[in-house]
Amino acid sequence: MNPSSQSSSRPFEQLSAQSGLGCGPVALAPLARRYGTPLYVYSADQIVERLKLFQEAFASRDHLVCYAVKANSALAILKLLAAHGAGFDIVSGGELERVRAAAPDALARVVFSGVGKTAAEIDLALRANILEFNVESEAELELLAARAAKLKRKARFALRVNPDVFAETHPYISTGLREHKFGIDIGRARALYRKAAGNPWLIPHGISVHIGSQIRSADPFGAAVDRVARLVRQLERDDIQLASIDAGGGLGIDYHGGHFDAAAKVSEYASAIDKALGSFKGRLMLEPGRFIVAQAGALVTQVLQVKRTGKKTFVITDAAMNDLIRPALYQAHHDIVPLTPRKGKPRQVDVVGPVCESGDFFARDRVLPPVQPGEYLALLDAGAYGLAQSSNYNTRLRPAEVLVEGKRARLIRRRETIADLLVPEIP
Ligand code: LLP
Repeated sequence: MNPSSQSSSRPFEQLSAQSGLGCGPVALAPLARRYGTPLYVYSADQIVERLKLFQEAFASRDHLVCYAVKANSALAILKLLAAHGAGFDIVSGGELERVRAAAPDALARVVFSGVGKTAAEIDLALRANILEFNVESEAELELLAARAAKLKRKARFALRVNPDVFAETHPYISTGLREHKFGIDIGRARALYRKAAGNPWLIPHGISVHIGSQIRSADPFGAAVDRVARLVRQLERDDIQLASIDAGGGLGIDYHGGHFDAAAKVSEYASAIDKALGSFKGRLMLEPGRFIVAQAGALVTQVLQVKRTGKKTFVITDAAMNDLIRPALYQAHHDIVPLTPRKGKPRQVDVVGPVCESGDFFARDRVLPPVQPGEYLALLDAGAYGLAQSSNYNTRLRPAEVLVEGKRARLIRRRETIADLLVPEIP
């Protein structure tokens, strides 16, 4: 397959009238029959290709792409990315253990972000000798110094600064304004670096910034990095040399199908960042999540019923908000396509799950070809923040996951069982 043609779109396309929708060359319907539904299916080829887009766009400078584990933390995907040189951005001790389980050598390429790290999590990361702690407050810096002294292990840190840059995205996933809970006011950072420079257990290693998620324009990234690069130059005058600038994640995708040129998006993003970095010669770190995995994944579901009430038609699927919460939580749009499209007049329907909440919907007033009970549908662009944000609400078992590598498909997570769910409980 021509890699540049794949990078511009989704890996899910109609194979033939008979085979229906495929992930690359692998038909989805047989996977759904074999492993059951709801079922997440991912394209390994696209995941690697997206990682490479970032690596190639920044090839002329020292850089490290630290994939944001929170977007999709499947061990098989972490292992795949680590094998292609990725580092990881983690936000909990749990995510650290995932990296250790998937690719222990990659612990040396881990950055630890997050607004509330516990002493136990900090200890775990110090013992694992991770690359850098992205510190979000003065109190956290003090805690890090205390734990490092206690364990007699030096801590490399970056301050995550809040650049006060507005990024046009959903309010729940915008983080770069002073009113948000994230980061340290950029005006305070210089004093904190100076203070930390005197502590023998703290190594001022870098500076980090992350302004939000699903940001479609390159401009806010340039503006944020520009502010950070200016601070780095000021710090140099204070004799504090930082080895790295971490520009965070947040590059958005197109959830509305159509033509999406991923390579062009990354190159536009790279030139905005390159320009803002100016003469900075240290290492650039990035924390993309969604851009790498979102379009590589689909959630395959089976239609349980088609119900007509008054003016409305509801297509009730076996997947629900607990499996993919993005529509309910962010009013997010996911394209929905039948695996085998049927002839007939398209109809306006609501696609909903069986959970006992009116918010349990995947689409409202969506025009779909006619569908019948038993038929399979795919919710597209579900590879990021899909299974990662799933729950067992309504005591529903979380879906299985399949990874398609070239012509091969393999199960990377079996469907949960009721026994799995009841294990921690004490009646
Ligand atoms: N770095 C940090 C510090 C972050 O907080 C995040 C995402 C990322 C990197 C990765 O951002 P990405 O490249 O994936 O945009 N659940 C929401 C998105 C939440 C993003 C949280 N932070 C959604 O489904 O849209």
